[in-house]
Amino acid sequence: MYTLNGTFTQQTNFYGGNDIFDLAEQYGTPLYVYNEAVLRERCKEMKNLVTYDNFVPHYSIKANTNIHLLKIVREEGLHADVMSPGEIFLAMQSGYKAEELFFIPNNVTKEDMLYAIEHNVTTSVDSLDQLKLYGMLNPGGKVAIRFNPGVGAGHHEKVVTAGKKTKFGVNPEYIPEVKKLLETYSLTLVGINQHIGSLFMDPTPYIQSLDSILEIARQFDDLEFVDLGGGFGIPYHKQDGENRLDIKALGQKLDEVLHAFAKSYGKKIQFQIEPGRYIVAECSAMVGSVTSMKTNGPVKYLGCDVGFNNLQRPIMYDSHHDIELYTKEERSTKAEPFTVVGNICESGDILAKDRVLPEAQSGDMIALMDAGAYGYSMSSSYNQRFRPAEVLIGLDGSVKQIRKRDTFEDLIRNML
Ligand SMILES: Cc1ncc(COP(=O)(O)O)c(C=O)c1O
Repeated sequence: MYTLNGTFTQQTNFYGGNDIFDLAEQYGTPLYVYNEAVLRERCKEMKNLVTYDNFVPHYSIKANTNIHLLKIVREEGLHADVMSPGEIFLAMQSGYKAEELFFIPNNVTKEDMLYAIEHNVTTSVDSLDQLKLYGMLNPGGKVAIRFNPGVGAGHHEKVVTAGKKTKFGVNPEYIPEVKKLLETYSLTLVGINQHIGSLFMDPTPYIQSLDSILEIARQFDDLEFVDLGGGFGIPYHKQDGENRLDIKALGQKLDEVLHAFAKSYGKKIQFQIEPGRYIVAECSAMVGSVTSMKTNGPVKYLGCDVGFNNLQRPIMYDSHHDIELYTKEERSTKAEPFTVVGNICESGDILAKDRVLPEAQSGDMIALMDAGAYGYSMSSSYNQRFRPAEVLIGLDGSVKQIRKRDTFEDLIRNML
């Protein structure tokens, strides 16, 4: 196999010495390929983010719930944040214990809440109504609350989850009502949490948002933990030389704040963070086959079998994924702008617009990089296309299939 553009997979030996054409032959395309070494490295970075000793990074499993990856994340010592009974179920299937999980749902039903209570998973509520419901279901219990610190951040308005324009979190002006409800149902508020948004590359808003969450923390005496949220960004534009988030600088600033808070609060409560993307995005490439090249009017199209049902981020958030192209034989081609499209019957099925790429041919392979977060977990069978298989490249280059591709039977499984 030859790489026409992009050096990331070559530099990192991402495919562990395996030929992508062989993997495609064996497992079919589209195919999510994961790299264990990258996954473990990102976990370690989060684990060692600060020197403050009562610090537990959680992985927000919504980003990717494959239980083989969850097992690795757990082995690396990260706890997990879950958003639904389904995520509680999957986390537990992978070996997570109740005390390693934190349930952070939004607008849940009584049944959802009961599922968490019955499984002894610490639950955070994010409205007064949900606090009341929790109190009725688990009087005398322990509870956490998600507050809205008033500062939001993120790469797209759809991922800003704090500030004035979002459904998330309890506004701190309702703290007197919160206290009344805690008393009415004899609840102990053991934790508070926030998540200001996703994909920040500048740590400033994250650090700024700590002031208000810690100010809220000071108003409650029995806290065991404060969860500061996720949102840590990754460089999606590696081919343009984008810098990484400065984890060291972020860690140092965080450390100062945590130590200072512990001193003023009088006890070293636990601090948590909840990154999803940072842990899993870079360990995966979405690999597909080039199926046709064509020109329609002024636009040159590169058609492939990766539809937006397999990777939604480009159409959902206008997201950029670097693209690598692979050929069986060495070939030199000139680079031009191509619009990269998939196989879904929608004109919006566009993976990249006017991307300068070497000219491909049918039968070549394509990889959309940094696809591990919100890739498979947001996939669907729209157009009744199969959700793809997933393989994991181990530390020694071995290939393990960690999910089968859907089959025709899957398409009718729940039909009565
Ligand atoms: C409450 C909460 N925590 C954590 C995350 C993880 O965010 P990210 O993957 O950007 O780190 C999200 C993502 O939307 C979230 O809603």
